[in-house]
Amino acid sequence: MVVASTRPEVIKLAPVLRALESSGTEHTFVTTGQHYDDELFWRFIRELGLREPEHNIDVRSGSHAYQTARALEALERLILQEQPQVVIAEGDTNSVLSTALACAKLLVPFAHVEAGLRSFDRTMPEEVNRVLADHVSTVLFAPTERAADNLVNEGILPESIFVVGNTIVDATLQHIEIARKKLKPRGGEYLLLTLHRAENVDRRDRLEGILRALAEVEQEILFPVHPRTLQRLKEFNLLELAEATLTLLPPVGYLEFLLMLEGAKVVLTDSGGVQEEAIVLGTPCITLRTSTERPETVEAGGNILAGVDRRSIAETVRRVLQDAELYERMRRAENPFGDGRSGERIVSILLELAEKGALKIEPPSRVIRTRQRRLLRAEKLQGKRISELGMRVCRVVSDGCFRYPAPEHRLSRDEMLEVEEEVSW
Ligand code: UD1
Ligand code: UDP
Repeated sequence: MVVASTRPEVIKLAPVLRALESSGTEHTFVTTGQHYDDELFWRFIRELGLREPEHNIDVRSGSHAYQTARALEALERLILQEQPQVVIAEGDTNSVLSTALACAKLLVPFAHVEAGLRSFDRTMPEEVNRVLADHVSTVLFAPTERAADNLVNEGILPESIFVVGNTIVDATLQHIEIARKKLKPRGGEYLLLTLHRAENVDRRDRLEGILRALAEVEQEILFPVHPRTLQRLKEFNLLELAEATLTLLPPVGYLEFLLMLEGAKVVLTDSGGVQEEAIVLGTPCITLRTSTERPETVEAGGNILAGVDRRSIAETVRRVLQDAELYERMRRAENPFGDGRSGERIVSILLELAEKGALKIEPPSRVIRTRQRRLLRAEKLQGKRISELGMRVCRVVSDGCFRYPAPEHRLSRDEMLEVEEEVSW
């Protein structure tokens, strides 16, 4: 069962749905209905050539508790009815939390795509959702080793983690080609803006500060507006200021957005997916947030975290536009999210696990003794791969940092291992 309920989930799970289709794997497609408008959901189903979901829970908008609880209850019924071997969801929305919880309580394996992302800011609803979803997941598909590091550092066992890249690369590479053939690029010099995160748009002072910072920018700024943001602009009487500063557009389709992003001089955003697409397409990205769960993009040099206050945003934009060397470095930053074959990889790992009988959750049949973790010097294991050790290795201590013990990692003499052992009484 694949559950995809919002714009980014449809985009990022499309490569997985396609891989399921082409491998002839029977599957059912569910939406909780968190996004329900054509411009945020159905248009993407059509544009990405997906079949319509067989089940729509039709949760729609409401408080976090309302959305999560309604979806949880309905998903429980649906999972019992459909009896899937595994349930797949992607990301960090309320719908993903409901899906993960429903599975955990029914002992149905849950596979989390894009596991291990952390902003380390628990005031973000998405951070709470991803931490909780990861901790009840059976299989965790981390996009990068850094995301896997985050998981092992929270105590999640590496045997359930697979580093597969991010399916956004698959989606971007597949669709930018189609977009280039089908649509005409906009042309001319412009910046692109997307803004929809609760912490930015639900507070009048912050939203106004962002708009005032952008008013200092001389270039045209295209702004396809998320419905949440449009609602707030109206509610806070900021629509006029926004219209005077930016070129407001309704949310655009995926092909049009990719082409707009590729042609933009710079993208300004608080979106997760857009930070990733920007580095894939070579568009310098300025993130209008105080934290990012995609630090790989910043480290690679393609993304700058500008914060949310007026002065720092205006200064960052100015610097990126005026410093040709910095601009060029940002443009050339290397994509850290893999080769665009993550969808296939995810499906083949799941099929292999199913074949081995590893996609079953059963209560233990024997008495559980207690477990403990200890540190071991790797000195005598030098040159061996983690997969050859026959020990439950939880983390490797490399260069003084705790790291994900990738199965193919060869130990060096100055490393240490954290191993887990069963202790008998
Ligand atoms: C949700 C996710 C966010 C993700 C975003 C993707 C959570 C907590 N938030 O935020 O992580 O980045 O989706 O876009 O899960 N609305 C419509 N039409 C729709 C859906 C929503 O007009 O089809 C409006 C409603 O006024 C609604 C508001 O948008 O109240 C917010 O929708 P909601 O699903 O609660 O959160 P998003 O802001 O979309
Ligand atoms: N997107 C789109 N049209 C738009 C704005 C965004 O197709 O007008 C796409 C964008 O290409 C990206 C995804 O929507 O793949 C990101 O979704 P969003 O920013 O809503 O959510 P987030 O990634 O922050 O969870």
